[in-house]
Amino acid sequence: MKCISPISLCFLLCLCAFQSVSSQNAITPPRGWNSYDSFSWIISEEEYLQNANIVSQKLLVHGYEYAVVDFLWYRSLKGEKNSIGFDVIDEWGRMLPDPERWSSSRGGRGFSDVAKKVHNMSLKFGIHLMAGISTQAFNNNTPILDTITGQPYMESGRVWYAKDIGLPSRACKWMDKGFMAINTTTGAGKAFLRSIYELYASWGVDFVKLDCVFGEDLDLGEITTVSEILNGFRNPIVFSLSPGVNATPQMAKRVISLVNIYRVTKDDWDKWPAILSHFNVSRDFSASNLIGAKGLKGSSWPDLDMLPFGWITDPDAHEGPHRFTNLTQDEQRTQMTLWCMAKSPIMYGGDLRNIDQQTYDLITNPTLLEINSFSSKNQEFPHITTLHDVKMEGYNVTKLQFTYSMALTECIDPKASGWFSEKHNQSLERICYKNPKQDQEEPFCVNKRELQMASLNQRYIQSAHMWELKSNGTLVNGDSGLCATVEYLLAEGYPNGIRSWIATGRTGEIYVAFFNLNSEKATISANIVDLAIVDPSRRKLRLCEGTETWSRTIIKTNDTFSAEVASHGSALFVLHCH
Ligand SMILES: *[C@@H]1O[C@H](CO)[C@@H](O)[C@H](O)[C@H]1NC(C)=O
Ligand SMILES: *[C@@H]1O[C@H](CO)[C@@H](O)[C@H](O)[C@H]1NC(C)=O
Ligand SMILES: *[C@@H]1O[C@H](CO)[C@@H](O)[C@H](O)[C@H]1NC(C)=O
Ligand SMILES: *[C@@H]1O[C@H](CO)[C@@H](O)[C@H](O)[C@H]1NC(C)=O
Ligand SMILES: *[C@@H]1O[C@H](CO)[C@@H](O)[C@H](O)[C@H]1NC(C)=O
Ligand SMILES: *[C@@H]1O[C@H](CO)[C@@H](O)[C@H](O)[C@H]1NC(C)=O
Ligand SMILES: *[C@@H]1O[C@H](CO)[C@@H](O)[C@H](O)[C@H]1NC(C)=O
Ligand SMILES: *[C@@H]1O[C@H](CO)[C@@H](O)[C@H](O)[C@H]1NC(C)=O
Repeated sequence: MKCISPISLCFLLCLCAFQSVSSQNAITPPRGWNSYDSFSWIISEEEYLQNANIVSQKLLVHGYEYAVVDFLWYRSLKGEKNSIGFDVIDEWGRMLPDPERWSSSRGGRGFSDVAKKVHNMSLKFGIHLMAGISTQAFNNNTPILDTITGQPYMESGRVWYAKDIGLPSRACKWMDKGFMAINTTTGAGKAFLRSIYELYASWGVDFVKLDCVFGEDLDLGEITTVSEILNGFRNPIVFSLSPGVNATPQMAKRVISLVNIYRVTKDDWDKWPAILSHFNVSRDFSASNLIGAKGLKGSSWPDLDMLPFGWITDPDAHEGPHRFTNLTQDEQRTQMTLWCMAKSPIMYGGDLRNIDQQTYDLITNPTLLEINSFSSKNQEFPHITTLHDVKMEGYNVTKLQFTYSMALTECIDPKASGWFSEKHNQSLERICYKNPKQDQEEPFCVNKRELQMASLNQRYIQSAHMWELKSNGTLVNGDSGLCATVEYLLAEGYPNGIRSWIATGRTGEIYVAFFNLNSEKATISANIVDLAIVDPSRRKLRLCEGTETWSRTIIKTNDTFSAEVASHGSALFVLHCH
């Protein structure tokens, strides 16, 4: 190759770049559909293929490429979630699809035909697995297959069986009758896992969700062994972990390089408190730089769990979808926005045969999906202000900044001193607080008249009738004998019930999401100078222009921007700033 024109050079480079990316796992947060929220464990081949077909027709163009069968696909419908003796297991202790529900699996074909159909839809095929070995295989003491010889696994002159590797004392906490951990330090334990994953890879599996192996059930031995096996396969398999209840960044650091996805919360269902519980955990994982860390043959992503929108079933049900999600439209937007700002894998959970337009529009929102795949520097954004209408008796104090909040404390508390009086003129005297230890821009002030006459609403202090400013800078409340102090909610980053995230996009745009977790609407605002935290190299930002996604409001500001955000709702700004 002597002479390359600029165009063909670019073509070659682009092609190489594309190939190297496509041969890697989970370079962006994986996106797809999972059967659990809508079918629990009872899904049939027909129902699965119908859903996969819709993923292919309507969602693939939006990046949804995995179609995942969730748990117990090997269990007869005669069984229950935690029953024993109803699983279809081969002579080597490996789970096979229940032929009553998966008719194409008959004759030892496993999921081969389903995987072929899914691949023919240009999708990738995923299955859920439980860590360790099934109790049923353990009780039957099935031999372990050595895939190198095709014979039972031999070591130290004897054949090894399920009872040589199963650890009944370490049953899965949430399915204690079903599965137990195995001893992965033994050659037979490793051979058993190899025999499982080689079988499933031969069916054409592209994605495994391994459950009961992270969080409270952390089993580093199993995760490491499975990761090594998958790493040795020619075709990449996305490796996803599920926890028992929750996981911490410290725990995650031990597995990120071994996997592609790891769940960081318990199962998410369609209840507002479940959404709330994801704010701190996603903040903590982003603050630990874990979003998009190096993973197995690619990247790894903290997983906030499926989206229980649209037509779904109930947790642990023994039946398929029968109801619409209980989340309001605002709550669903909040969930989708947080998931995308935190770059969680996006796995839709509803039955696609019955998806409504509103849900479809939300899960295919181009701004959110762009953020989910391609944004960077994603983090919680503490620099926000809430404007509350604070009611005082006889006064209308509107748009009082809720960045500080008065509270009562013991008078010997050092935080109680810092009060002083400030005279403007004859009629206006203000009482102000400035804690010398805190680097605060402006003192917190309240007009003396208001302080003495007003009974402040509960966000401030209940009783504010009698106040005395002492010479040591304390402000004593006559009713309680306690002293006033001021809490700097902004400094702590959490003005009550308000959260915000920030990220930057592929072409330098800045994304800011406001979340109102309160049960009342709130006006939330931010100052554009603070947006530089996503790019400290930029000089002070002078002008931002853009749009708020849900209201389509046009923003153009050299100062602050704000939105009135409904209870449980969100605002999402896409800003171009300079
Ligand atoms: C693949 O899909 C096409 C229709 O899209 C169909 O004609 C063909 O038979 C399918 N092939 C297999 C192997 O399922
Ligand atoms: C696992 O197997 C190793 C090697 O045989 C043994 O030393 C160890 O005690 C076993 N661990 C458990 C928990 O049984
Ligand atoms: C979330 O984090 C904030 C700030 O660290 C803390 O005050 C709050 O208690 C946390 N909430 C939960 C539910 O852990
Ligand atoms: C959903 O809402 C209905 C009616 O409000 C309620 O009966 C049901 O328990 C809720 N389901 C869940 C899973 O929260
Ligand atoms: C407070 O506002 C309400 C309506 O916004 C008004 O009717 C009322 O007179 C105001 N009160 C005072 C003390 O200004
Ligand atoms: C301030 O003085 C009062 C007495 O006037 C005392 O009770 C209180 O402990 C003092 N507080 C501080 C922080 O010095
Ligand atoms: C005192 O100052 C306040 C605020 O600066 C102003 O609104 C008020 O009119 C002034 N009063 C007098 C008597 O000058
Ligand atoms: C914003 O622009 C207005 C009008 O052009 C100007 O008066 C104001 O000082 C500017 N504010 C900032 C923070 O630059």
